[in-house]
Amino acid sequence: MERFRVVGGTSLRGEVSVVGAKNSALKLMAGALLAVGRTRLTNVPAILDVTIMAELLRRLGCVVDYDATSGVVEIDVPDRIGHRADYELVRALRASICVLGPLVARCGEAHVAIPGGDAIGSRGLDLHISGLETLGASVHVTHGYLIAAAPNGLHGGEIRLDFPSVGATENVLMAAVLAKGVTRVTNAAREPEIVDIAQFLAKMGATIEGAGSSVIEVQGVSALTPVSHQVVPDRIAAGTWAFAAATTEGDVEVVGGVAGHMGAALDLLTEAGSDVVLTERGFRVTGTGRRAAFDVATLPYPGFPTDLQPFALTYNAVAQGSAMVTENLFEARFRTVQELARLGADTRMDGHHVMLHGVRRLSGAPVEASDIRSGAALVIAGLVADGITTVSKAHHVDRGYAGFDEALRGLGADVTREPDEAPYI
Ligand code: UD1
Repeated sequence: MERFRVVGGTSLRGEVSVVGAKNSALKLMAGALLAVGRTRLTNVPAILDVTIMAELLRRLGCVVDYDATSGVVEIDVPDRIGHRADYELVRALRASICVLGPLVARCGEAHVAIPGGDAIGSRGLDLHISGLETLGASVHVTHGYLIAAAPNGLHGGEIRLDFPSVGATENVLMAAVLAKGVTRVTNAAREPEIVDIAQFLAKMGATIEGAGSSVIEVQGVSALTPVSHQVVPDRIAAGTWAFAAATTEGDVEVVGGVAGHMGAALDLLTEAGSDVVLTERGFRVTGTGRRAAFDVATLPYPGFPTDLQPFALTYNAVAQGSAMVTENLFEARFRTVQELARLGADTRMDGHHVMLHGVRRLSGAPVEASDIRSGAALVIAGLVADGITTVSKAHHVDRGYAGFDEALRGLGADVTREPDEAPYI
């Protein structure tokens, strides 16, 4: 176990690079199952979740080469693949639920362990299930496994999602591309990662229209061919650096960041007084002086992303004025709040709202990461705290960011890793 040790008081300055999105790379890896042969993915982040997904694909019979240094994953998919994703791997990586659609489409059968509890909320699967049922699969739960079967193959259908779920949209798309006939998904998720997967599937020979809008139409085909594909840049990592620059009153160029994928995030920072300019290689965020607080509510894309909500908390904890941060996607995603309070933030929580009254400086203390983004947001909080902050459970952050502390040091921060003391319980 390791923790981050953060010495407060640095404004981040310089440039930082953003690579491919974790939330796209994992789904593209699952999507590779749809075509027999060798799929090549580039710009893949060097994170533990990719290693776990690679292992899951190996257990299904694929040969997977993952070169974390060059960011290349090659997946060789055999003609016959396994159809069972065990709990041991699924609990380590909830995103492995995205093999469900490809497996039913390829094998006519899938047994995928139900992901366990998650630190950010219960995260249902009802939309994944009803979507696959509309495509002709029977789905039931036995002994902790979601078992989907379509012995006679899948067929197209009209799927209306009650909520634009990212995971359900992806699973349904990856099943529909090999179903007979036309599938129409309404109220589909519109995230850039959905567009990335649709482009990947289209290159493989799928016929998909409307990805990036609320209505996606798929004309099923009988087979797909493997391709080479570059993962879309990580908008959440880019947003992390944008908030880090603004919060620490720094000046950071986010190389590889796509401003057009940032939805409401950059606009909010600009309105609150930071300078955001587009550069040839990405965008640059400058925050000189104490920034204004702002209210924000998380929403599906293009709204403000729930994955950036912990950074909005840290930002507002030291901004000028008061703010209300509202979480609309995950009911238990406010674990950052109690840790920020340990650092001296003035917060009050009421249901899915948090009120913050900005203080001039936080005060360093030991805190604990509860998920990828909360951990990163607490490290940034440590930069605007007097003295030393330690953020334990560093492994959460490593699941989503390749070399987070190294990148921070590149921007002038005093952030190191050290062994974490053994917990008493
Ligand atoms: C993905 C991202 C995650 C991000 C989230 C929302 C990955 C690996 N993770 O998660 O980082 O925070 O999108 O942008 O890509 N829901 C149901 N029933 C379902 C499906 C979802 O009730 O069948 C609910 C969930 O409980 C949650 C909300 O819908 O409250 C959003 O979930 P969803 O969009 O599916 O997120 P994920 O795909 O799990």
